[in-house]
Amino acid sequence: MAAQEQGLFSSDLISETVAQALPEGYTARSLRLSDYDAGFLDCLRVLTTVGDISKEQFAERYEWMAKSDGYYILVIDDGTRVVGTGALLVERKFVHSLGLVGHIEDIAVASDQQGKKLGLRIIQALDYIGEKVGCYKTILDCSEYNEGFYVKCGFRRAGLEMAHYY
Ligand code: ACO
Repeated sequence: MAAQEQGLFSSDLISETVAQALPEGYTARSLRLSDYDAGFLDCLRVLTTVGDISKEQFAERYEWMAKSDGYYILVIDDGTRVVGTGALLVERKFVHSLGLVGHIEDIAVASDQQGKKLGLRIIQALDYIGEKVGCYKTILDCSEYNEGFYVKCGFRRAGLEMAHYY
């Protein structure tokens, strides 16, 4: 298999249940280097500012993640482009007997694809990875506006987010 097609993580970590629940022609898979040209960054732009990232900069960050353990960036592909994405970062702790905690980040579904349960499938797929790699919990931060979405995905409010921007 060409290096460009391998992806950040193994396809063994893609939930079969999620794969089967996607609309016809859609697939859930790992982020690939070639997704730079498949609309990955445009998909993320529905979430926040992405900036003007060159192909070389994208490749550098991708390769860094590929070498580091614990980066699982999932995409939903409609057969032509990336229409959804989400990330699971696995934190390795000392507490809880060297426990692993999953952090869900950067969930985005293309504007013209929202409301098709793709967001739900992304969260279910990331949850599956978290459980399979041994996390004892997965947590995320979101706006009040999106709380209902995450409740429908099985999450519940726990704690309070605080931030210090630099
Ligand atoms: N508030 C309450 N309920 C919601 C919301 C919301 N904001 N969004 C979706 N839902 C509900 C849907 O109605 C649906 O309910 P149902 O099962 O009763 O029909 C259920 O949640 C699942 O919805 P999906 O169709 O899977 O949602 P979608 O594919 O549109 O994705 C998402 C939701 C990811 C929030 C999308 O709207 C999006 O990309 N928004 C912009 C970016 C964003 O805000 N991302 C989340 C940031 S937080 C983070 O990254 C950790």
